[in-house]
Amino acid sequence: MKIEITSMMPPPADGMSRVDGRLKVTGAAKYSAEYNIKGVTYGVMVGSTIAKGSIKAIDTKAAEHAPGVLTVITYLNSPKVPGYQTENTAAKGMLKIFYDDKIYFNGQPIALVVADTYERALYAASLVKADYNKEQHQTELKSNLNNGVLPYSSKDYVRGQEDAYKSAPVKIEQEYILPTEVHNPMELHAIIARWDADDKITVWDKTQGIKSTQKSIAQAFKLPPDNVQVTAPFVGGAFGAALRTWPHEIAAVLAAKVVKRPVKLVLSRADMFTSVGYRPYTWQKIGIGATADGKLVGITHDATGQTSAYEDFTEGVVNISQLMYASPNVNTRYKIVSLNVNTPTPMRGPGEATGAYALESALDELSYELNIDPIDLRMRNYAQTDPLSGKPYSSKFLNDAYKLGADKIGWSERSQKPGSVTKDGWLVGYGMGAGMFGAYRSSATVTARMMADGTLILQTGVTDIGPGTGTAMVSIASEMMGIPGAKIRVDLGDSSLPPSPTQGGSQITATVGSAVYDACTELKDKFKQLNNGADSADYVGLLKQHNLPQLEVTTLSKNGPEMGKYASYSWSVHFIQVFVNPATGVVKVNKAVSVADAGHIVSPKTAASQIKGGSVMGIGMALMEEVVIDHRYGRLVNNNLADYHMPVHADIPQVEALFVNKPDPNLNPMGAKGMGEIATIGVAAAVANAVYNATGKRIREMPITPDKLI
Ligand code: MOS
Repeated sequence: MKIEITSMMPPPADGMSRVDGRLKVTGAAKYSAEYNIKGVTYGVMVGSTIAKGSIKAIDTKAAEHAPGVLTVITYLNSPKVPGYQTENTAAKGMLKIFYDDKIYFNGQPIALVVADTYERALYAASLVKADYNKEQHQTELKSNLNNGVLPYSSKDYVRGQEDAYKSAPVKIEQEYILPTEVHNPMELHAIIARWDADDKITVWDKTQGIKSTQKSIAQAFKLPPDNVQVTAPFVGGAFGAALRTWPHEIAAVLAAKVVKRPVKLVLSRADMFTSVGYRPYTWQKIGIGATADGKLVGITHDATGQTSAYEDFTEGVVNISQLMYASPNVNTRYKIVSLNVNTPTPMRGPGEATGAYALESALDELSYELNIDPIDLRMRNYAQTDPLSGKPYSSKFLNDAYKLGADKIGWSERSQKPGSVTKDGWLVGYGMGAGMFGAYRSSATVTARMMADGTLILQTGVTDIGPGTGTAMVSIASEMMGIPGAKIRVDLGDSSLPPSPTQGGSQITATVGSAVYDACTELKDKFKQLNNGADSADYVGLLKQHNLPQLEVTTLSKNGPEMGKYASYSWSVHFIQVFVNPATGVVKVNKAVSVADAGHIVSPKTAASQIKGGSVMGIGMALMEEVVIDHRYGRLVNNNLADYHMPVHADIPQVEALFVNKPDPNLNPMGAKGMGEIATIGVAAAVANAVYNATGKRIREMPITPDKLI
């Protein structure tokens, strides 16, 4: 993105407003489908109507003869994708689009119609007819739990004694189910692909990773990476759905080759449910035991998630049980089941959010068995060092977070006896759930260029999918250089810029922020040299004095060897107050408080928004979101935003976002830790625990819809 800040107002005490906010709300920010590319054509995909088998015959005649149609691509006429033939490329494991007649899931693309307008492509797509050899499909995890296998990358984990909880004086053993959820960012996935030469291509593409998209398209089409230009200056949300290159992106690149014109392919909302991943349906079982005074004896955590029939997807569902509490005995097992569904992908918090839902629910159940306050129970098992590695934490202030949140929600009003508090005929309940996620820092390169007019330009290839990366960069540079944010411009989201990692895994502020910090430090040094070794913030004067049009540095920044000495995590705790209508089972979230220990908060306003968004997502997980499959056909029935429920404004109270705001002294120069994932991790359990506190009913299969409460 190229952002010029027009306001000369100093940032308010609660932090800078989004530097791209005005562009976004006025429509000036361009998303990947919005570029007017000369000669562009339009692609629409046709999906399979069976869930398993093969294509017997495919009739594209009518579509080919429809007005404006340039081509209809199927496995019968598709050019080969060179990368599909080679192992160890980014295309490995990916559904090979238009490769053969095999059908792995309902909705799998079997054809791409390209026409001169979108409407004509859409109409022609409706004329494509296929006959299939149907085979018996499996789309239900619940009835296939026995088919779980240990994935290639996963081993059973045992610390101390296996199943130690079974001999504990107080114990619970329960199963928890989280159904499939879909990311559904506001912006649909979209790509415009244009071949500039036989071996050179430009794509305007929705992606969380400019460099990873460049690499996977280059590998798929056997091109030098530099011959693939990727542009994504603005991304309208992603939550993990744009972490990898998907088949529709390959399809658009293929199609542009066939029609020798640029091709724009925008997924429909229905496509978004079957083409760009989802949080997989996951079954979990937790056994947890303690002494009568609430010291954990052991945790056993089993989980089984679903994956596709052509690719293994795994995530860290059981990790949190190894890490969160100082339990001497822990054993975990994680399995996956291949079903006739598309491949899942990380969705905010990813597996850790799924795992925390079960662990933090189980801990709540244990707190009632023990008759110990849930916060008190957690404090009695507070880990002072990392239970997995034995290493000291680089920082941990979760205890402060518990206290801040409990005060804010009014935890002292909670009763340990479920169903005992009412207000105006509603049952009132309080719940809490905690979360953690690795605090990572990887490497990034930033160019910092001071112009003769005093404008500072920051450049790096990171994308900003919504958390406010550009704003955090401006905040850091403004403080470092001692210039107002209004004098700083950021250029992001372009593969020709210096390399930056994929935005994901809660690491970008720590990584790119550090690179901004390092680049500014170096640039200030350069000015100091110009000034005979004396510090001065008169950059304009110094450039003029030396007759320089600009001064710039390009700095590679990465973490140091001291990192390995520590275990680094961000921590969160979420508090929820619900009102439950005893007659109708309706659950209203009345108060939500989330507290993060994410180190020093670099950009307070966007950080608060990040936490609030994660809370909304967790409330959706607990109360509304669920993909429903008609297993007779293996077909989604609610693949639209009318039938797939998620929270809207009326469902969400004022969410209070609080920060411990103590720097991590070991992770990076700003002392910042990530917060994208911990914003969601632990929220769903907090809601379910609040519903139990209100009603005495423990719902162990999400979402908690009214029918389950009456
Ligand atoms: Mo994320 S699930 O790190 O995009």
